[in-house]
Amino acid sequence: MDVRDNQLYLGGCQAKALTDAFGTPLYVYEEEAIRRQCRQMREAFAAVQPDLHYAVKANANPALLAILKDEGFHIDAVSPFEVRLCLGAGFQPGQILFTGNNTSEEDYRYCLEQGVPVNVGSLVELDRYGRLNPGGTVSLRINPDVGAGHHHHVITGGPDSKFGIYHTEREAIAEHLRRHGLILTGIQSHIGTGILRTAEMLAAMEIILNTARGFEALEFIDFGGGFGIPYRPDQEPLELTGLGRAMCERFASFRSEYGRPIKMKLEPGRYLVAQAGSLLVRVTNVQSTPAHTFVGTDSGFNHLIRPAMYGAYHEVVNASVVTGEAAEVVVAGNICESGDVFTQDKQGLEHRSLTRPEVGHLLALLDAGAYGMALASNYNMRPRPAEVLVNQGESRLIRRRESYEDLTANFV
Ligand SMILES: Cc1ncc(COP(=O)(O)O)c(C=O)c1O
Repeated sequence: MDVRDNQLYLGGCQAKALTDAFGTPLYVYEEEAIRRQCRQMREAFAAVQPDLHYAVKANANPALLAILKDEGFHIDAVSPFEVRLCLGAGFQPGQILFTGNNTSEEDYRYCLEQGVPVNVGSLVELDRYGRLNPGGTVSLRINPDVGAGHHHHVITGGPDSKFGIYHTEREAIAEHLRRHGLILTGIQSHIGTGILRTAEMLAAMEIILNTARGFEALEFIDFGGGFGIPYRPDQEPLELTGLGRAMCERFASFRSEYGRPIKMKLEPGRYLVAQAGSLLVRVTNVQSTPAHTFVGTDSGFNHLIRPAMYGAYHEVVNASVVTGEAAEVVVAGNICESGDVFTQDKQGLEHRSLTRPEVGHLLALLDAGAYGMALASNYNMRPRPAEVLVNQGESRLIRRRESYEDLTANFV
């Protein structure tokens, strides 16, 4: 992103020109930013050359999948339709790892029919899967009793998490595998998302390696995703190079002790696509109370729910006038709920200093590429935005804006 004539440009395209062509609200993704993050991830772990599986849940647009495929990424999928989308995007079944949770027989059957490897997260599901695929191979999601993340809703390890078989259940795991003649070829864990500290990731890794030691036929150990990005200007970024070095060294020493070839896998989502995405919205109103100046827009938490759901921070830039006389404002949406505010933290409304927004200006909500459009809804019968990919001054529509017909197609 850059600024020319005090206007915001994304991937070399003027924000105004993009919204003139495609309307607002509009998700815009910068291809170069995705490729940069892919390379950073690959370089940080180059010493052990892991299989890198993109977590599709972060953003499932096929144009992004094509970029990730081109960068050599494989897939972490959580549902049959994610699997189907990725097969359609040209990924081989063996490049996809399905990690469901509370997974039905139907979902397992679909993966088996497609030849997609399955990662199972509880003993009950292991029985379910074992009955469908006796004598087959399987991997297991382990809860290492360590969790981390930007909000308690996204911590996926430890006693309050519904995910994975507790690492202490080794005997029960062995017994369930024996019962169905299953061969355990992988161990996986994922302790949360939006992690900026390395300590928990390294602690979880130690426990997972310890669990892996008890099983003889492993082909991979998957340490999940969770690699965070700094959303707030004062946040320290994750020290990815140091984390990569530490994890590679530890893995290399485990590998020589284990005594047979074994691969590392990782499942980053947010780290690859968050910073590439901006949500462009139009100012429709400016209104004050004794406490706040509200800047109203034509979008809302139906399009970007992270602030309302987690008190998450997204930097807001006035794309029409990037620098100039500033005003302290609260940026809100057009949804019929008072929680529909883009600038809030866990305590409540947050004032932001923006170049004085006026009706008609464009605002850019930054770092919205992950868990933005993926979590969007049609609340208040509002269509979901269009999505555009930009690169070197060129723009391409990669998802059209929803229509009234799209929203009503399934009413019977
Ligand atoms: C199993 C699994 N792997 C990977 C990810 C990706 O996490 P992140 O986007 O934080 O890298 C998730 C996210 O919830 C997940 O559940």
